[in-house]
Amino acid sequence: MINAIDVWNRFARERRGAASAEGDYWLSKAKDYSRLIDRRWAEGDDETREFLKRLFADRSLRSVLDIGAGTGQWSLFFARLGVNATALEPSAGMRAVLKENIAADPASARRISVVEGRWPETDAGIFDVSFCSHAMYEWDDLAAAIAALRERTRRRVVLAIRAPYADDFYARLAAFLCPEAPYAGTDFPLLQAALFQLGIFADVCFESRDTAHVRKFDTVDAAVTAIRTRFGADGATVRELIVSEGYAEPDGRVRIPMRGKTACVSFKP
Ligand SMILES: C[S@@+](CC[C@H](N)C(=O)[O-])C[C@H]1O[C@@H](n2cnc3c(N)ncnc32)[C@H](O)[C@@H]1O
Repeated sequence: MINAIDVWNRFARERRGAASAEGDYWLSKAKDYSRLIDRRWAEGDDETREFLKRLFADRSLRSVLDIGAGTGQWSLFFARLGVNATALEPSAGMRAVLKENIAADPASARRISVVEGRWPETDAGIFDVSFCSHAMYEWDDLAAAIAALRERTRRRVVLAIRAPYADDFYARLAAFLCPEAPYAGTDFPLLQAALFQLGIFADVCFESRDTAHVRKFDTVDAAVTAIRTRFGADGATVRELIVSEGYAEPDGRVRIPMRGKTACVSFKP
């Protein structure tokens, strides 16, 4: 049997190393990211938001930590439900847009505090609910990150994480690199296996809409460099997968649509 925590940590370490070498990845991308989230949310609710609305219908839940708050849409969502939100975010680029977005809604802004920092290194206090949407992919000591969630959360932990289909490019690459865990990236199946290993039987609901995100690169070389370092893979393998799976366009650009959904994983601490 594989050790899911070790496999997760291995992938997360590569991603974290690549991200810190890049500097603030979000500095030039935060505005576009914010627009992407706004567009997606304007299409209608998803199962994660429906779940959270039901959860916070319990008015005794007063505080939430939004881990990796990004451009602030989730913190605003919580504030509009009448919950006090703490937005934990390490990227200055993301925090700048987050602050703009919050300032545009002064009634909600008074319920939101912004903290610079990373999970689990930054201890921002104890909250009724801890929430993390797509900000766990660099947790390179998963057991410590989950232990911190349990210690610093009173009532419920909620994690929204990518659940790729088997034909997703990154899932295919991860399976190639780690055949013993053929779904292995820092994704839902591995998180669930790791939680089982830690004795946590989480509730899971999947969003019914597919992920809309497309990763774009100007050249095959740029794609190979970016992806190779994130997975600790050799360049030839990544290049061969990009070309053989048809992601290189005739003009040399690369477009890789993420194929999958978001899984909403939650458990009592
Ligand atoms: C894909 S964005 C998700 C933003 C937001 N949660 C959302 O769902 O729209 C990932 C965010 O997580 C942040 N992040 C990455 N690693 C983190 C960590 N260890 N702790 C807190 N935030 C982290 C990044 O700076 C980035 O803003």
